[in-house]
Amino acid sequence: MAKITDIKSQSLQEVNQTQTVAELEEFRLKYFGKKGLVTSMLKGMGSLSPEERQVQGPAINALKTELLEAVESKKNELELSELNEKLKTEKIDITLPGRPEEPGKIHPISQTIDELVTLFGDMGFALAEGPNIEDDYHNFTALNIAEDHPARQEQDTFYMKEKKDGAPLVLRTHTSPVQIRTMMDKNPPHRIVSIGRVFRADYDITHTPMFHQIEGLLIDKNINMGHLKGCLIEFLETFFGVKDLPVRFRPSYFPFTEPSAEVDIGCSREDGDFKIGKGADWMEILGCGMVHPNVLRNCNLDPEEYQGFAFGMGVERIAMLKYGIPDLRTFYESDLRWLRHYGFRSLDIPCALNKTSGDA
Ligand code: PHE
Repeated sequence: MAKITDIKSQSLQEVNQTQTVAELEEFRLKYFGKKGLVTSMLKGMGSLSPEERQVQGPAINALKTELLEAVESKKNELELSELNEKLKTEKIDITLPGRPEEPGKIHPISQTIDELVTLFGDMGFALAEGPNIEDDYHNFTALNIAEDHPARQEQDTFYMKEKKDGAPLVLRTHTSPVQIRTMMDKNPPHRIVSIGRVFRADYDITHTPMFHQIEGLLIDKNINMGHLKGCLIEFLETFFGVKDLPVRFRPSYFPFTEPSAEVDIGCSREDGDFKIGKGADWMEILGCGMVHPNVLRNCNLDPEEYQGFAFGMGVERIAMLKYGIPDLRTFYESDLRWLRHYGFRSLDIPCALNKTSGDA
């Protein structure tokens, strides 16, 4: 027993003499480490007779508790004094310039998509989605594109391994299959836009194998070409921020619309300087038309009762025109210098939604 009292006074003295946190840790290991003094005393209790254990057990446990408490309070004391010492000796050089942190930028595609969603949202169009891997039926057949139709080749389709039931699968070549999914899923009226990736095997200054399209679909009773024109003119003026933007509907052909049109906006290309809204030139922007009666029938709608219009355009293309980006391929090169130049700050409000006159 005397031994324990000795150890106690000896060790408490040692704790008090430690001068640094490191020294204190050394002390702790000496007594409580794997082979530490207190540790071995605790271990040794097993070999004591029950009588001895009754006496020694509580004494050893008390020693342990007291020592650990002493270590803890010494530790607090030492840490505090070490911190005070540090604060006294350390100086902060407030003349040192700060290290600038470059804020991230929003990619022009994300920005343009936000603008489009906001703008068409304001016009009452909800967002719809469809899969990137599409079946041949939704991508072509239901859209009135027959098996032997040249559009299947024209669009440079990426074909995938077919479905288990043998149905051919493709990477969707346009967002138009979302029209079909929308009309098949729900009852009319419909007013949706769908934005997403599309894929075509093509690569040059104006083509990349993956790009984005926005598709619009409106189906209701008594819808005519006037509604289509009004909607798209309103959209183009707002998106490009040009009041009274010259807009031209040029007759065209798509298997899924009748009549079909391509839409051009007025621009000038003087001295390599491209301007939207002024001048004698035209720039093609999008494809559109009244939904073909066959497409309506394929979606179990009666063309005598329901009509509507659809339009589709490339997101990169309109972003390039609006923001003066010359090469489509640069969108996907992940060059930080490019992104710093063409990117947007996160607080930029989508789109100059209020129309201004003059230059875009
Ligand atoms: N899907 C057509 C394309 O990719 C665009 C389009 C959509 C045309 C809707 C008319 C109506 O070229």
